[in-house]
Amino acid sequence: METTKSARKYDAGEVGSDLSEQIKAATKDSHIRAENTQLMLSYQKGQITLPQYKVLLCSLYEIYKVLEEEMDRNSSHPAVAPIYFPQELARVESLERDLEHFFGSDWRKRVIVPAATHRYGQRLRKIGKESPELLVAHAYTRYLGDLSGGQVLGKITQKSLGLSSKDGLAFFSFPGVTSPNRFKQLYRSRMNSIELTEQQRAAMLEEAVAAFEHNIQVFDDLQKMLSVTTETVHQSEVNAVKTSMFPSSPIMQFTVGLCVALTTIGMGLYAL
Ligand code: HEM
Repeated sequence: METTKSARKYDAGEVGSDLSEQIKAATKDSHIRAENTQLMLSYQKGQITLPQYKVLLCSLYEIYKVLEEEMDRNSSHPAVAPIYFPQELARVESLERDLEHFFGSDWRKRVIVPAATHRYGQRLRKIGKESPELLVAHAYTRYLGDLSGGQVLGKITQKSLGLSSKDGLAFFSFPGVTSPNRFKQLYRSRMNSIELTEQQRAAMLEEAVAAFEHNIQVFDDLQKMLSVTTETVHQSEVNAVKTSMFPSSPIMQFTVGLCVALTTIGMGLYAL
């Protein structure tokens, strides 16, 4: 949740020339929209369920796998190098541990992601090849988010899922970062040191808004995926009840029909 103080500052148009300030201002509305997706609202109400958390982990894994592959490949690019912190930030290994915890050793076969996650991955691949400087916008959106609200979400996950240990929560833990606030300051100063043309800067701000949009679409798709699964389970339960109450074979249907007819006639005769 953004602070009222920072909201006022940006509303008053007092954004300086630093990339870190500009990117925060440019994505302020997107951040509010991301916080207000159904999935994030469930989170904030402490109502995250295990199926929700499991599908979220699958998508985060796919996203970070591509993001970190592209960051590694472009690690010496002049825009990427200043914000390249694999030791402190890399998430793929922690996500692998969490997935193994929840899905078992064959977790790789069980990772399912919606279309929005594929689109997000495709975008990351494209900019990794064509304009690596834009990876900064994506790294900012995910890593600074994980070091901010993400820290609270970790505690909520543990409580909501009733997990007694840290097993399954590696994603939220950054052992290489002693103070998230100090690290975020360092990250921002590194972002501000990146040299960009006006055109590249504008493209960067646009890409950060797009990065938030990709996250919002992933959350929305996950929510839809879960409601379809729940509805399917519910529908098959209804069908199971229908099947058990109404015999499906024609002979059985005829027999039941005959019994009902005879009972009705019998009751009619009795009434007379
Ligand atoms: C339940 C949902 C969320 C909550 C409660 C939350 C909360 C927060 C909080 C408290 C901050 C610190 C603000 C500050 O220092 O001024 C923050 C920053 C941030 N959040 Fe979130 N957030 C949520 C979701 C998201 C999502 C989904 C993303 C993107 C995928 C995201 C990306 C960021 C980023 C990039 C920052 C750093 C802003 C900056 O300092 O430049 N957040 N968030």
